[in-house]
Amino acid sequence: MADITEAPEWSALAEHQAALAGRHLRELFADDPGRADRMTVTAGDLHLDYSKHRVTGETIGLLTALAVRAGLRERIDAMFAGEHINVSEDRAVLHTALRLPPGGELTVDGQDVAGDVHAVLEKAADFAGRVRAGEWTGFTGERIRTVVNIGIGGSDLGPAMAYEALRDYVDAGIACRFVSNIDPADVTAALADLDPATTLFVISSKTFGTLETLTNAKVARSWLVERLGDEAAVSRHFVAVSTNAERVAEFGIDTANMFGFWDWVGGRYSLDSAIGLSLMIAIGSEAFREMLAGFRVIDEHFRTAPLEANMPVLMGLLGVWYTDFFGAQTRAVLPYSQRLSRFPAYLQQLTMESNGKSVRADGAPVVAQTGAIFWGEPGTNGQHAFYQLLHQGTRLVPADFIGFAEPFADPAGMHDLLTANMLAQTSALAFGKTAEEIAAEGTPAAIVPHKVMPGNRPTSTILVPKLTPKTLGELIALYEHIVFVEGTIWGIDSFDQWGVELGKVMAQDLAPALTSAEPPADAPDPSTAALVRRYRELRGR
Ligand code: F6P
Repeated sequence: MADITEAPEWSALAEHQAALAGRHLRELFADDPGRADRMTVTAGDLHLDYSKHRVTGETIGLLTALAVRAGLRERIDAMFAGEHINVSEDRAVLHTALRLPPGGELTVDGQDVAGDVHAVLEKAADFAGRVRAGEWTGFTGERIRTVVNIGIGGSDLGPAMAYEALRDYVDAGIACRFVSNIDPADVTAALADLDPATTLFVISSKTFGTLETLTNAKVARSWLVERLGDEAAVSRHFVAVSTNAERVAEFGIDTANMFGFWDWVGGRYSLDSAIGLSLMIAIGSEAFREMLAGFRVIDEHFRTAPLEANMPVLMGLLGVWYTDFFGAQTRAVLPYSQRLSRFPAYLQQLTMESNGKSVRADGAPVVAQTGAIFWGEPGTNGQHAFYQLLHQGTRLVPADFIGFAEPFADPAGMHDLLTANMLAQTSALAFGKTAEEIAAEGTPAAIVPHKVMPGNRPTSTILVPKLTPKTLGELIALYEHIVFVEGTIWGIDSFDQWGVELGKVMAQDLAPALTSAEPPADAPDPSTAALVRRYRELRGR
């Protein structure tokens, strides 16, 4: 397989970039007054303005030609059809099947995927409904008031992010907490003020073999049994979400209280599977289904919209444009919504575990630069922290701004100020302020250079009517498919994550060296051995 960088479309983009690199967004807007209206695309409730990017119509044509060369359309069809596009694990990639409409049909590898998805969804909805109605009680007969989701990575970040995002839809008096880290501080803090009689633990782990999750789950079980004084309490207070029934049973959770999913759902793509159970209990299955409907809207758009009017395709190609042709290393995601405070962290796993790869799907080394480093914070907090670098630093940091028109509660008219800040930032980043403009304000000559705002800093603005379960689903699906587009161009497998395995094994091997009474012998290298010795000294071992 020839590398994509050898394709004529790649060279055409490189040449085009050389010609465009010296042009300022101020010029691009002056030369093409219609671009603000033209360079927009709508998908479901999402409106994207990409006019503040360092692109012209020609750039978009060249980028979509690259997508055609990479076989993007065929790859999209292959994913939706359940082909084994996760080659290194020989698996289908079917998170899109998790939001098939009721009555939808899909059979893959002999499995009635659509039927199985809806059966689990029904089972989860029934359980969530019983917990919410107070029919499913704790061991002492009390209603459940708190759900503690214990999981990590994809079994934590999705539900934790979505719970925070949808707090305004939490309507049954049941709060969620999320425990993920193996740092004892995490579980200790989560349990500190909880009443075991009213607490339900959802142990979420695709494999049910993850050290952090199993360790935290054991701590939670001991905490509960100690306080309720009876091992039999476990079955009323622990349920599991997993693909591995055997391990769930081994842990001591009744598999009747297990909610399944399948190996074709990647952990970081699993929020809309039963992994969302804690969220579903908090917001109700109807709201959860609205979220699924939002995902579905973007799936349909992604599958059917022409490449040049396809939001995930455009945003994915813009990612490739800056990563590979401008040398941008990072991409900021800046939600102007406090409720989306965990969205950047969620996207970090989605994007970086997916596209942080340096071999292609066929095992050959990649030639292009792959996945950007995703990071971000909600505006306006970020403005008072790191935006200085975005405006005047030496690095190019393309950024996605996400804003909502309708707030939930807005007693002092603050929401308009929030939105004004978002719009002002994208304008300042794009257009900046020239030395002449600054001097004309009477700024002393020596200070002028400090105040120059270079501009020409590219941003996307995504404007959404309101943060709802549906629009949250739309936003998540948008980024899932952006990842797919980028991974397809780079020719990598966006659905495995072998890079996280070595550290896990080494940690298991190292743990005895930290605790044993024997002199530490088994550290993997001299530096680590010295640190083990130091740690043991500090612990008095
Ligand atoms: O360590 C990475 C990872 O495998 C993620 O891909 C996954 O989301 C996370 O660990 C948790 O895995 P599990 O759901 O199997 O506990």
